Amino acid sequence: MVTNTIGSSLMCVGPGGGFEVRQLPRRKPATGEIEVAVAAASVNPIDVRRAKGYGRRLLSLMGAGRFPMVLGNDVAGTVTAVGNNAGAFKVGDRVYGVKPPSVEGTHASHVLVKAGHVLPAPAGRDLQALAAVPYSFVTMWLAVRGSGLTRQNAGGKRVLVHGAAGGLGILALQMLSRWGAQPTAIARPPDFAACRQAGAAEVLDGSIKPFASLSRAFDATLNFAAWEDDLALLGCLRRDALGHATTVHPLLANFDELGWLRGALKTFSDKRRHRAALPEGTQNYAWTVFRPDASALQELRQSVEQQCDGLTIGLRTPLAGAAQAFDHVRNRQRGRALILPE
Ligand SMILES: NC(=O)c1ccc[n+]([C@@H]2O[C@H](COP(=O)([O-])OP(=O)(O)OC[C@H]3O[C@@H](n4cnc5c(N)ncnc54)[C@H](OP(=O)(O)O)[C@@H]3O)[C@@H](O)[C@H]2O)c1
Repeated sequence: MVTNTIGSSLMCVGPGGGFEVRQLPRRKPATGEIEVAVAAASVNPIDVRRAKGYGRRLLSLMGAGRFPMVLGNDVAGTVTAVGNNAGAFKVGDRVYGVKPPSVEGTHASHVLVKAGHVLPAPAGRDLQALAAVPYSFVTMWLAVRGSGLTRQNAGGKRVLVHGAAGGLGILALQMLSRWGAQPTAIARPPDFAACRQAGAAEVLDGSIKPFASLSRAFDATLNFAAWEDDLALLGCLRRDALGHATTVHPLLANFDELGWLRGALKTFSDKRRHRAALPEGTQNYAWTVFRPDASALQELRQSVEQQCDGLTIGLRTPLAGAAQAFDHVRNRQRGRALILPE
């Protein structure tokens, strides 16, 4: 039952314009949607970039490119209203999940989400801890699958994870080690212990760019850190490897900077150049783009129910203090940043 029809939203006013908390009318859920009173929503690197206008051209195709906008792609909270055909959810259920890029993101007191994009929160589990994970987990899972790794084939595979101490990296180490793979983490020395705890079989110092010494050693490589290291990572794959996936590719930036035609041509040529650098017989090469994938959400559900994966929270702030959360992510400070609307 919706009793208060006004909600608070963190509006990102425009590139350089900062943020304002605005009181806005809440809409009723459409068919297939539920409304969630947000207990917590995370701030991710994409939010920091979108606040500056990054991705506006391609994201405009899904109505997510114009300011003012509410950012945020994941949420945990309590169901407050249910649309028609919205599955088995009912008012009062505790849920967590993802929302595709939009101008009505999750940095708000209430958010409308597709029922298929959220999962029931296990009884007793902390909603704040759950809010830190869904967007990163789903993207990580898509990258792992994009590289050709599956739960079935991962056993004993050597996997190189660049950016291993970040959100995607830690979740990848946790999942891959659970799947029986042998992940090697590239991170900075202060993060070695966290990588080992997350399941890294080996840790390497990223500050000395260790790629040359790793020639042809890996079954799969994952780049969660830097596009400029992508070719060096491809050189770490063995012949007939499963493959490589990167979440840090220039897809959105190419279109932002070069427009539709030249952006498409540059994207095509970037991909072709990198594919050409793959060792002979490599099966997969993927530029991962987040989407609310049903199989990824099922894997997330399983990992949450088995209490396998999670991320450390570094900062919690109310909506009005959200600029602090954006600074935390921009400055690459440790732990995830959460916005707590209430
Ligand atoms: N394509 C998509 O749809 C999609 C979706 C989600 C995320 N992403 C991107 O994937 C990346 C990882 O996400 P995340 O949430 O895990 O980010 P994160 O928590 O900020 O972690 C990024 C990790 O990469 C390392 N790193 C960053 N820049 C680096 C550089 N230039 N050289 C070496 N290491 C570097 C960081 O190390 P230090 O902290 O030690 O510097 C950190 O461990 C981000 O760039 C994010 O924007 C893309």
